[in-house]
Amino acid sequence: MAYCLKCILPVFLAMAVFGKAGAVELPPPADLSSQYALPSRQVIVVEPHESTNERQKRVEYTALPIDGLLTRWFGDRWTSEEAEIVFLAKDGYRSVVPGPKLKKYRAFLAFARSDGAPFTVDNSSQNERKIPLSPYYLVWDNKKEPELLRQGAYGWPYQVTAVEWHSKSEDRALLPARASPMLEQGFAETKEYCLTCHNIRGIGGKKYPVDLIRALCRWQEPDLKAWIDSPSRVKPGTAMPPLARLLPEAERQRMIGRIVGYLGAMKVESPEACARPAP
Ligand code: HEC
Repeated sequence: MAYCLKCILPVFLAMAVFGKAGAVELPPPADLSSQYALPSRQVIVVEPHESTNERQKRVEYTALPIDGLLTRWFGDRWTSEEAEIVFLAKDGYRSVVPGPKLKKYRAFLAFARSDGAPFTVDNSSQNERKIPLSPYYLVWDNKKEPELLRQGAYGWPYQVTAVEWHSKSEDRALLPARASPMLEQGFAETKEYCLTCHNIRGIGGKKYPVDLIRALCRWQEPDLKAWIDSPSRVKPGTAMPPLARLLPEAERQRMIGRIVGYLGAMKVESPEACARPAP
Protein backbone atom coordinates (compact mmCIF):
# COMPACT_ATOMS: atom_id res chain seq x y z
CA MET A 1 0.00 0.00 0.00
CA ALA A 2 1.46 3.36 -0.95
CA TYR A 3 0.71 6.55 0.92
CA CYS A 4 1.45 9.91 -0.50
CA LEU A 5 3.56 11.36 2.27
CA LYS A 6 3.25 14.87 0.89
CA CYS A 7 -0.53 14.56 1.05
CA ILE A 8 -0.88 13.31 4.61
CA LEU A 9 1.96 15.27 6.19
CA PRO A 10 0.00 18.55 6.36
CA VAL A 11 -2.84 16.69 8.10
CA PHE A 12 -0.47 15.33 10.75
CA LEU A 13 1.08 18.74 11.21
CA ALA A 14 -2.33 20.33 11.62
CA MET A 15 -3.34 17.66 14.16
CA ALA A 16 -0.14 18.18 16.11
CA VAL A 17 -0.51 21.94 16.13
CA PHE A 18 -4.24 22.43 16.74
CA GLY A 19 -5.20 21.17 20.22
CA LYS A 20 -8.76 22.37 19.78
CA ALA A 21 -10.43 24.38 17.05
CA GLY A 22 -8.70 27.73 16.70
CA ALA A 23 -5.98 27.08 19.29
CA VAL A 24 -2.35 26.56 18.37
CA GLU A 25 0.22 25.14 20.77
CA LEU A 26 3.54 26.61 19.72
CA PRO A 27 6.36 24.19 18.86
CA PRO A 28 10.02 25.12 19.58
CA PRO A 29 11.39 28.00 17.45
CA ALA A 30 13.49 25.83 15.11
CA ASP A 31 10.45 23.65 14.32
CA LEU A 32 8.16 26.62 13.85
CA SER A 33 10.57 28.19 11.40
CA SER A 34 11.18 25.01 9.39
CA GLN A 35 7.57 23.75 9.43
CA TYR A 36 6.38 26.81 7.59
CA ALA A 37 9.61 27.64 5.74
CA LEU A 38 9.69 31.05 7.42
CA PRO A 39 13.19 32.42 7.94
CA SER A 40 13.78 34.27 11.19
CA ARG A 41 15.05 37.85 11.10
CA GLN A 42 16.44 40.57 13.35
CA VAL A 43 14.11 43.29 14.62
CA ILE A 44 15.15 46.38 16.55
CA VAL A 45 12.42 47.65 18.89
CA VAL A 46 12.02 50.21 21.65
CA GLU A 47 11.80 47.76 24.58
CA PRO A 48 8.72 49.06 26.43
CA HIS A 49 9.37 47.16 29.66
CA GLU A 50 12.69 48.98 30.05
CA SER A 51 11.85 52.39 28.54
CA THR A 52 10.36 55.54 30.01
CA ASN A 53 9.05 58.66 28.27
CA GLU A 54 12.44 60.25 28.96
CA ARG A 55 14.71 57.38 28.00
CA GLN A 56 14.10 54.84 25.24
CA LYS A 57 16.02 51.61 25.31
CA ARG A 58 16.42 49.73 22.02
CA VAL A 59 16.90 45.97 21.85
CA GLU A 60 17.45 43.72 18.84
CA TYR A 61 15.55 40.43 18.85
CA THR A 62 15.65 37.38 16.60
CA ALA A 63 12.08 36.72 15.57
CA LEU A 64 9.53 35.31 13.13
CA PRO A 65 7.01 37.66 11.46
CA ILE A 66 3.62 36.82 12.93
CA ASP A 67 1.42 37.72 9.94
CA GLY A 68 2.69 34.75 7.93
CA LEU A 69 2.10 32.41 10.86
CA LEU A 70 -1.41 33.73 11.52
CA THR A 71 -2.40 33.19 7.88
CA ARG A 72 -1.08 29.64 7.96
CA TRP A 73 -2.97 28.87 11.19
CA PHE A 74 -6.23 30.75 10.72
CA GLY A 75 -6.49 31.66 7.02
CA ASP A 76 -7.75 35.18 6.26
CA ARG A 77 -10.14 35.35 9.19
CA TRP A 78 -7.49 36.78 11.51
CA THR A 79 -7.61 40.09 9.60
CA SER A 80 -11.39 40.67 9.96
CA GLU A 81 -12.85 43.47 12.11
CA GLU A 82 -14.32 40.85 14.45
CA ALA A 83 -11.06 38.95 14.94
CA GLU A 84 -9.16 38.81 18.19
CA ILE A 85 -5.92 36.92 18.61
CA VAL A 86 -5.34 35.63 22.13
CA PHE A 87 -1.79 34.97 23.36
CA LEU A 88 -1.57 32.60 26.33
CA ALA A 89 1.47 32.63 28.58
CA LYS A 90 3.03 30.07 30.90
CA ASP A 91 2.19 32.10 34.01
CA GLY A 92 -1.51 32.47 33.13
CA TYR A 93 -1.22 35.92 31.54
CA ARG A 94 -3.71 36.27 28.67
CA SER A 95 -3.28 39.03 26.13
CA VAL A 96 -6.01 39.81 23.59
CA VAL A 97 -4.84 41.66 20.49
CA PRO A 98 -7.33 42.87 17.85
CA GLY A 99 -6.75 41.25 14.45
CA PRO A 100 -6.82 44.65 12.68
CA LYS A 101 -4.00 45.91 14.95
CA LEU A 102 -1.83 42.95 13.96
CA LYS A 103 -2.58 43.73 10.35
CA LYS A 104 -1.85 47.46 10.63
CA TYR A 105 1.52 47.17 12.40
CA ARG A 106 4.43 44.75 12.10
CA ALA A 107 4.55 42.23 14.95
CA PHE A 108 6.90 39.30 15.52
CA LEU A 109 7.28 36.26 17.73
CA ALA A 110 10.76 36.78 19.19
CA PHE A 111 12.67 33.83 20.60
CA ALA A 112 16.19 35.17 21.30
CA ARG A 113 18.21 38.34 21.61
CA SER A 114 20.37 38.95 18.57
CA ASP A 115 23.41 39.92 20.67
CA GLY A 116 23.40 36.56 22.47
CA ALA A 117 22.51 38.14 25.84
CA PRO A 118 20.07 36.17 28.02
CA PHE A 119 16.50 36.26 26.66
CA THR A 120 15.12 38.14 29.68
CA VAL A 121 13.65 41.54 30.49
CA ASP A 122 13.38 43.80 33.53
CA ASN A 123 9.81 44.82 34.27
CA SER A 124 10.20 47.70 36.68
CA SER A 125 6.49 48.58 36.81
CA GLN A 126 5.86 45.09 38.24
CA ASN A 127 8.93 45.22 40.50
CA GLU A 128 10.39 42.18 38.71
CA ARG A 129 13.86 41.77 37.20
CA LYS A 130 15.41 39.36 34.67
CA ILE A 131 12.11 37.73 33.76
CA PRO A 132 12.65 34.85 31.28
CA LEU A 133 10.86 35.59 27.99
CA SER A 134 10.99 32.17 26.35
CA PRO A 135 9.57 30.33 24.54
CA TYR A 136 8.10 33.33 22.68
CA TYR A 137 7.72 37.06 23.19
CA LEU A 138 5.36 39.15 21.05
CA VAL A 139 7.25 42.28 19.93
CA TRP A 140 6.26 45.17 17.66
CA ASP A 141 8.28 47.30 15.28
CA ASN A 142 7.33 50.40 17.27
CA LYS A 143 10.29 52.71 16.53
CA LYS A 144 8.30 55.02 14.23
CA GLU A 145 4.81 54.32 15.61
CA PRO A 146 3.75 56.90 18.24
CA GLU A 147 0.51 55.01 18.93
CA LEU A 148 2.40 51.81 19.80
CA LEU A 149 4.96 53.73 21.87
CA ARG A 150 2.15 55.28 23.94
CA GLN A 151 0.68 51.86 24.70
CA GLY A 152 3.93 50.79 26.34
CA ALA A 153 4.09 47.11 27.24
CA TYR A 154 0.41 46.35 26.66
CA GLY A 155 0.19 43.85 23.82
CA TRP A 156 3.74 42.57 24.52
CA PRO A 157 3.04 39.22 26.24
CA TYR A 158 6.05 37.07 27.08
CA GLN A 159 6.46 33.33 27.85
CA VAL A 160 3.83 32.74 25.15
CA THR A 161 3.04 29.05 24.64
CA ALA A 162 -0.20 29.14 22.64
CA VAL A 163 -2.16 31.37 20.27
CA GLU A 164 -5.94 31.33 19.72
CA TRP A 165 -8.38 32.95 17.35
CA HIS A 166 -11.63 34.36 18.78
CA SER A 167 -14.50 36.46 17.53
CA LYS A 168 -15.13 39.73 19.36
CA SER A 169 -18.81 38.87 19.73
CA GLU A 170 -17.94 36.06 22.16
CA ASP A 171 -17.58 38.46 25.08
CA ARG A 172 -20.91 40.27 24.80
CA ALA A 173 -21.62 38.49 28.12
CA LEU A 174 -19.28 40.98 29.76
CA LEU A 175 -21.23 44.06 28.65
CA PRO A 176 -24.04 45.50 30.78
CA ALA A 177 -27.48 45.27 29.16
CA ARG A 178 -27.79 48.87 27.96
CA ALA A 179 -24.19 49.89 27.53
CA SER A 180 -23.48 53.51 26.55
CA PRO A 181 -20.50 54.16 24.26
CA MET A 182 -18.60 55.28 27.38
CA LEU A 183 -19.28 51.94 29.12
CA GLU A 184 -18.30 50.08 25.96
CA GLN A 185 -15.02 51.94 25.91
CA GLY A 186 -14.51 51.20 29.61
CA PHE A 187 -15.11 47.54 28.89
CA ALA A 188 -12.62 47.49 26.00
CA GLU A 189 -10.02 49.13 28.25
CA THR A 190 -10.72 46.76 31.14
CA LYS A 191 -10.25 43.87 28.76
CA GLU A 192 -6.97 45.20 27.43
CA TYR A 193 -5.50 46.47 30.70
CA CYS A 194 -6.97 44.25 33.46
CA LEU A 195 -8.32 40.96 32.07
CA THR A 196 -4.80 39.97 31.08
CA CYS A 197 -4.23 38.97 34.73
CA HIS A 198 -7.74 38.96 36.26
CA ASN A 199 -11.10 37.67 35.05
CA ILE A 200 -14.79 38.52 34.99
CA ARG A 201 -17.18 35.56 34.99
CA GLY A 202 -14.30 33.27 34.13
CA ILE A 203 -13.21 35.23 31.04
CA GLY A 204 -9.68 36.53 31.29
CA GLY A 205 -6.21 35.67 32.54
CA LYS A 206 -5.09 33.39 35.32
CA LYS A 207 -1.96 35.22 36.44
CA TYR A 208 -3.75 36.61 39.50
CA PRO A 209 -7.05 34.79 39.23
CA VAL A 210 -9.57 37.00 41.00
CA ASP A 211 -12.98 37.81 39.55
CA LEU A 212 -12.88 41.61 39.45
CA ILE A 213 -16.62 42.01 40.06
CA ARG A 214 -16.46 39.86 43.16
CA ALA A 215 -13.28 41.57 44.34
CA LEU A 216 -15.04 44.90 43.89
CA CYS A 217 -17.51 44.02 46.64
CA ARG A 218 -14.63 44.66 49.04
CA TRP A 219 -13.52 47.97 47.48
CA GLN A 220 -14.76 51.55 47.72
CA GLU A 221 -14.51 53.49 44.47
CA PRO A 222 -11.86 56.06 45.59
CA ASP A 223 -9.62 53.29 46.99
CA LEU A 224 -9.96 51.32 43.77
CA LYS A 225 -9.00 54.38 41.70
CA ALA A 226 -5.93 54.98 43.86
CA TRP A 227 -4.97 51.31 43.59
CA ILE A 228 -5.23 51.20 39.77
CA ASP A 229 -3.39 54.52 39.52
CA SER A 230 -0.40 53.39 41.58
CA PRO A 231 -0.50 49.95 43.24
CA SER A 232 3.06 50.41 44.55
CA ARG A 233 2.05 53.52 46.47
CA VAL A 234 -0.74 51.58 48.21
CA LYS A 235 1.31 48.40 48.68
CA PRO A 236 5.06 48.77 48.10
CA GLY A 237 6.65 45.91 46.16
CA THR A 238 3.36 44.63 44.71
CA ALA A 239 3.43 42.78 41.37
CA MET A 240 0.44 44.71 40.01
CA PRO A 241 1.63 47.39 37.53
CA PRO A 242 0.25 50.96 37.46
CA LEU A 243 -2.20 51.54 34.60
CA ALA A 244 -0.69 52.67 31.28
CA ARG A 245 2.14 54.70 32.80
CA LEU A 246 3.33 56.13 29.45
CA LEU A 247 0.02 57.86 28.65
CA PRO A 248 -0.36 61.60 29.38
CA GLU A 249 -1.64 61.98 32.95
CA ALA A 250 -5.04 63.53 32.13
CA GLU A 251 -5.78 60.78 29.63
CA ARG A 252 -4.72 58.13 32.12
CA GLN A 253 -7.07 59.53 34.77
CA ARG A 254 -9.98 59.53 32.31
CA MET A 255 -9.22 55.90 31.50
CA ILE A 256 -9.20 54.98 35.20
CA GLY A 257 -12.61 56.68 35.48
CA ARG A 258 -14.02 54.67 32.57
CA ILE A 259 -12.65 51.36 33.89
CA VAL A 260 -14.05 51.96 37.37
CA GLY A 261 -17.34 53.12 35.78
CA TYR A 262 -17.59 49.92 33.78
CA LEU A 263 -16.73 47.70 36.75
CA GLY A 264 -19.31 49.57 38.89
CA ALA A 265 -22.03 49.04 36.24
CA MET A 266 -21.21 45.32 36.10
CA LYS A 267 -21.40 45.10 39.89
CA VAL A 268 -24.89 46.65 39.86
CA GLU A 269 -25.91 44.01 37.29
CA SER A 270 -24.45 41.16 39.33
CA PRO A 271 -26.03 41.40 42.80
CA GLU A 272 -25.25 37.70 43.33
CA ALA A 273 -21.51 38.47 43.13
CA CYS A 274 -21.55 40.31 46.45
CA ALA A 275 -24.01 37.94 48.12
CA ARG A 276 -21.33 35.25 48.47
CA PRO A 277 -17.91 35.76 49.98
CA ALA A 278 -15.40 36.35 47.18
CA PRO A 279 -12.71 33.68 46.66
C1 HEC B 1 0.25 42.10 35.27
C2 HEC B 1 -0.87 41.58 35.99
C3 HEC B 1 -1.95 42.54 36.47
C4 HEC B 1 -2.67 43.46 35.75
C5 HEC B 1 -2.51 43.83 34.30
C6 HEC B 1 -3.65 44.02 36.67
N1 HEC B 1 -3.51 43.47 37.89
FE1 HEC B 1 -4.72 43.77 39.49
N2 HEC B 1 -3.55 42.56 40.61
C7 HEC B 1 -2.41 41.91 40.17
C8 HEC B 1 -1.74 41.29 41.29
C9 HEC B 1 -0.43 40.52 41.23
C10 HEC B 1 -2.53 41.57 42.44
C11 HEC B 1 -2.23 41.20 43.88
C12 HEC B 1 -1.48 42.39 44.40
C13 HEC B 1 -0.95 42.25 45.78
O1 HEC B 1 -1.71 41.85 46.68
O2 HEC B 1 0.24 42.60 45.94
C14 HEC B 1 -3.67 42.35 41.97
C15 HEC B 1 -4.73 42.79 42.79
C16 HEC B 1 -5.84 43.49 42.34
C17 HEC B 1 -7.00 43.82 43.13
C18 HEC B 1 -7.24 43.40 44.58
C19 HEC B 1 -7.90 42.05 44.54
C20 HEC B 1 -8.52 41.63 45.83
O3 HEC B 1 -8.42 40.43 46.11
O4 HEC B 1 -9.14 42.46 46.51
C21 HEC B 1 -7.85 44.53 42.34
C22 HEC B 1 -9.22 45.11 42.74
C23 HEC B 1 -7.22 44.66 41.06
N3 HEC B 1 -6.00 44.00 41.09
C24 HEC B 1 -7.78 45.34 39.99
C25 HEC B 1 -7.14 45.50 38.77
C26 HEC B 1 -7.66 46.33 37.69
C27 HEC B 1 -8.97 47.10 37.75
C28 HEC B 1 -6.76 46.24 36.68
C29 HEC B 1 -6.78 46.99 35.36
C30 HEC B 1 -6.77 48.42 35.46
C31 HEC B 1 -5.68 45.35 37.10
N4 HEC B 1 -5.94 44.94 38.37
C32 HEC B 1 -4.60 44.99 36.30
C33 HEC B 1 -1.97 41.83 38.87
C34 HEC B 1 -2.46 42.58 37.83
